[in-house]
Amino acid sequence: MSEKKIAPSLLAADFANLQRDIEMVNASQADWFHIDVMDGVFVPNISFGMPVIEAIGRHAKKTLDVHLMIVDPDRYINDFATLGTDILTVHYEACTHLHRTLQAIKAAGMKAGVALNPHTNVALLKDCIQDIDLVCIMSVNPGFGGQSFIENTFEKVSELKALIQSKNAHTLIEIDGGVTSKNASELVAAGADVLVAGSFVFKSDHPMDTIEKLKNQVN
Ligand code: DX5
Ligand code: ZN
Repeated sequence: MSEKKIAPSLLAADFANLQRDIEMVNASQADWFHIDVMDGVFVPNISFGMPVIEAIGRHAKKTLDVHLMIVDPDRYINDFATLGTDILTVHYEACTHLHRTLQAIKAAGMKAGVALNPHTNVALLKDCIQDIDLVCIMSVNPGFGGQSFIENTFEKVSELKALIQSKNAHTLIEIDGGVTSKNASELVAAGADVLVAGSFVFKSDHPMDTIEKLKNQVN
């Protein structure tokens, strides 16, 4: 079994001390930086855009995992590639021509991810799972950090794992929203490969220790 990854979500970082928090993640056992882009249209919140991601990229020394919660993400695929994005995740619900979008992300040199809202069935990915590098299962309704985990997620992870295996795909399963040490083990047991954690890491007393404990808990 390959190593499970931890991706702290910078949405929960202290934006007035962003460089400090990025360097903490660099020095920690975290694997990826999870970067949440919200447009105020697809989700009822606005986070940050290109200038901030450019600044993050100047300090971050790990994989940049960018989660787009925006309408019409195709417009910005090349911009995110230029910013140094390694994995670009779009929402299933925001893409009319998902297959085309996935090909465009890969043509721009990035890995392609698809995020699913809590109400979106994993079976909808049956016909394109082999083209997807990562599926991000939203375990809260996207838009805000600090929400509580939706329990139905465990079942979705198992269903998605079975779909991936039935198609001999190599897709990673990422879980995003309300992840803590309470649900991490069960998520990984169900088939999760990557755990995003925002509040649980950054609102803890010792974020670096929290990352280390979470990493060791699931590996
Ligand atoms: C929510 C974002 C998440 C968020 C997770 O829309 O996609 O990545 O930062 O935050 P926590 O871990 O606090 O639920
Ligand atoms: Zn996210």
